[in-house]
Amino acid sequence: NEIYTQGIHGRRPRVPTDHAELERRARRVMSDRAWAYIAGGAGEGSTMAANRAALDRWAIVPRVLRDVSSRSTGIELFGQQLPAPVLFSPVGAGALAAHAADVHIGHAAAELGVPYIFSNQGSAPMETVAAEMDRVRSGAPRWFQLYWSTDDDLVDSLLARAEGMGANAVAVTLDTTMLGWRPQDLNLGSLPFARGEGIDQYTSDPRFTEIVAQRVRAAVGGEKPEISVGAIKTLFSIARNAPGSLMKNLTAPEPRVAVQTFLDIYSRPSLNWDDIAGLRDRTTLPIVLKGVLHPDDARRAVDVGVDGIIVSNHGGRQVDGAIGSIDALAAIAPAVDGRIKVLVDSGIHTGADVFKAIALGADAACIGRPHMYGLALAGADGARDVVANIIAELDLTLGLAGYTSIADVDRDALQRV
Ligand code: FNR
Repeated sequence: NEIYTQGIHGRRPRVPTDHAELERRARRVMSDRAWAYIAGGAGEGSTMAANRAALDRWAIVPRVLRDVSSRSTGIELFGQQLPAPVLFSPVGAGALAAHAADVHIGHAAAELGVPYIFSNQGSAPMETVAAEMDRVRSGAPRWFQLYWSTDDDLVDSLLARAEGMGANAVAVTLDTTMLGWRPQDLNLGSLPFARGEGIDQYTSDPRFTEIVAQRVRAAVGGEKPEISVGAIKTLFSIARNAPGSLMKNLTAPEPRVAVQTFLDIYSRPSLNWDDIAGLRDRTTLPIVLKGVLHPDDARRAVDVGVDGIIVSNHGGRQVDGAIGSIDALAAIAPAVDGRIKVLVDSGIHTGADVFKAIALGADAACIGRPHMYGLALAGADGARDVVANIIAELDLTLGLAGYTSIADVDRDALQRV
């Protein structure tokens, strides 16, 4: 209603209401580095294309004369009532797009009452983002996304902080045990953390700063006094302000070691099902596995006792030539058969896309790049409006397709074309 009323008065919306124009406008305001990292995908971009192609192969078949005057897009997820089956995907190194990106997105999500999944590579400590969300709406839904470190104590520390800041679930990302082949970044000589974006979750962590201190002491000789958290932050800020890449032009050993420590410990390529089975003993939070694409892995996730999965190819940023996430969802939803929650992301741009995901058996869909484009264009308001528009279009699609609630939407609503 709001957006149509604005239109009646001749006012343009704050952010474009279609994805193509949103992307075009965001490109104009973002630096080359930010664009390469945020918009870019793995390899030749074929997984990104597959995400859209998969959606295009399903058509909504609207039904008529069903009284859709009263509708709801609301759902329940892990005991929480949500206004729509939509979440903000975790996006790391958001500082590339806007200063204090995560705080703004948290603000936007809290205004909508939509869960925000904080990235482990966020550009603000999770406690800061949580406080901002509580300021807007006390208890606003929030999840924490974990990259499983090579250091188990760091995993425990991050989980304890997530519980402490009121996370409603933890999403463990499984598809990024190593960073994918990302030509846009590589060609610019600009890796995501090149200037220290996305390390705030770490530099604010007591276990992380302890590890850095140990390694710095070992590198520069044992006699150095205790290194405080403040000193570690200084080491990273020296690295951050070094011209060019983090590692270039860093002659002093301390900041070099600090950065090398981060690169060494942020992700564990040996991660396996036993680690996941053990996670139950480490946290009380609902556990969601992010990055599942094979039905057998989805069944295994059910067997191992997690609470949900996110069917995702990381927005086409990891394996080039991978299956579109909606194609994966179509195979996974029947395999899971309602035993755990199934979410999906990657290439979801519109309310109609969310509708298709629900019809194919998803409980909810997460939105990544679109909210970052809104953020780049108009800060917290822009991020909020992008997701509000998707929800508004979902409500219209629901009604115009002949449904009054998300729970009623199933495969009958679609035909494969
Ligand atoms: C991501 N994604 C991501 N996922 C995650 O689990 N932790 C992270 O830190 C990040 N970081 C990140 C940065 C950027 C710039 C992007 C675009 C994506 C993946 C993200 O959560 C999600 O899976 C995809 O973005 C979904 O695809 P769309 O909506 O961007 O097409």
